Amino acid sequence: MIDKSLVKKRFKKSLGSYDDNAYVQKITAKKLIQLLPQKIYESVFEAGCATGILTREIEKTLKFNFFTANDIVEESGNFINSIIKNNTFIAGDIEEIYLGQKYDLIISNACLQWCNNIELTIEKLINSLKPNGILAISIFGDDNLKEITDIFNIKNKTYSMKNLKKNLEKYNIISYQEEIIKQEFNSPVELLKSLKLTGVNAVKEIKLTKTKLKEFEEKYKKLYTQNEKVILTYNPVYILISSDKK
Ligand SMILES: C[S@@+](CC[C@H](N)C(=O)[O-])C[C@H]1O[C@@H](n2cnc3c(N)ncnc32)[C@H](O)[C@@H]1O
Repeated sequence: MIDKSLVKKRFKKSLGSYDDNAYVQKITAKKLIQLLPQKIYESVFEAGCATGILTREIEKTLKFNFFTANDIVEESGNFINSIIKNNTFIAGDIEEIYLGQKYDLIISNACLQWCNNIELTIEKLINSLKPNGILAISIFGDDNLKEITDIFNIKNKTYSMKNLKKNLEKYNIISYQEEIIKQEFNSPVELLKSLKLTGVNAVKEIKLTKTKLKEFEEKYKKLYTQNEKVILTYNPVYILISSDKK
């Protein structure tokens, strides 16, 4: 089970440093928007908006009339107010909240992997679409942060892509794409700091004593150094689903 109060605490704390460190989230936000059919979306709902990296792309690129944003962190609403005037903000857990109405587009960048039941959440979002509506999400696949999960021997997801893909077969899939993105850091400590500054270390509390940190650094450098930099792997998955039956 994901500790939602920990997720909330970590993301709230990282709001000020998030934009400068959200390397992969900026890439996935742009790509998600590029994958969308270009048309007028009367009403748009964004889940897990944080500081509005995806919201800014929506504002720049899409034609829409009504915009609703959500995040488990209430303070995110202040960021969205400065990007899209007259928005509606619904604070709360996307797994729990009532979406209020049906939408033409429901979109979410790098958020739904924090759900305890991603399959049920996808179903809930599809049921909140109008006919001919689109659900567009980016989440992370099995190889995401694989260096960290290998070294600490932890599972950082509540779902397996194999099961999720199987579950998605019942829907009208418009597009399904996966990619691998590598980020370089000067040291393992710099890498850990960057993850902390985006709040994405939130799944589990890992207590790092000085000795454990040293062990981690040595192992990471030995296993994952390329051209004098250490490498971190991201595995974004982009999924677009139509609300129309297949
Ligand atoms: C990695 S950030 C991505 C933010 C944003 N979508 C972007 O494009 O940069 C994940 C965001 O999802 C929010 N979040 C995590 N779990 C959530 C949940 N169950 N319901 C709503 N928001 C959630 C976090 O508070 C955080 O702001």
